[in-house]
Amino acid sequence: MYTLEQLHEEIKRCTRCPLHKTRRNAVPGEGSGRLGIMIVGEAPGSSEDEQGRPFVGAAGSLLNKTLSTLGVERGDLYITNVVKCRPPGNRTPTREEVAACLPYLLRQIEILRPRRIIALGAVSAGALLGLIGRQVERVGDVRGKCFRGKVAGVDVEICVTYHPAAVLRNPRLRGTFAEDLAAFLGGGGLERYF
Ligand code: URA
Repeated sequence: MYTLEQLHEEIKRCTRCPLHKTRRNAVPGEGSGRLGIMIVGEAPGSSEDEQGRPFVGAAGSLLNKTLSTLGVERGDLYITNVVKCRPPGNRTPTREEVAACLPYLLRQIEILRPRRIIALGAVSAGALLGLIGRQVERVGDVRGKCFRGKVAGVDVEICVTYHPAAVLRNPRLRGTFAEDLAAFLGGGGLERYF
C-alpha cells in the first residue's frame, strides 16, 4: 500500500498536465487529518506555488484565522486542493487540468479515509460532488449543505462553503463562511444533510 508521503513525492514530480511547465512547486497537501476532516480548495496561488504548501497566502490567513476562532488546530485537518499546481495568473483551472489531477485527490481520500470533506468554492464543490453524481450549477445552491456518498471506496460527507478568496473579495460573506465552518468542523453539519 502506498503511503501519503510516497503520494506527495509522486505529486511533486507530476507531469500529467501542462501546469507542470509553469509551476515552481507542486502543492500536494499537508496535515495529519487526525480529526477525519479534509479541506479541499481549488488550486495553489502564488504564495503556495512559492512555498509548496496549501493555503499560505491571503486566503490561507483568512482560513487560519477562522479555524483558530473555532478552536481547531489546522494541523489536525488535512488541507489540499483539487489541482496541485498553480494555474498561470491564478486563472480558474480548466476541465482538463481538473481531470488530470483528480486521481491524486482520490488517492488522498483512499489513504486518509476522511469522514468529512469540506469543499471550498465552486471548482472544489463541482469536482467533489461530481464524484457522487451531483451536478453543481452555482455554489450558492449547495453551500451550507452536506451530501453523503462513497468516494474511492470511502463513505464520506461532502460539505460545501465559499472559497476564502471569495470571502476576501466580498466581506459580507464572512459571517456565513465562519458559520458554515463551525457547523462542518463541530459536527453540526448533521442537520444539513441532503
Ligand atoms: N486558494 C486555493 O484554492 N488553494 C490554496 O492553496 C490557496 C489559495
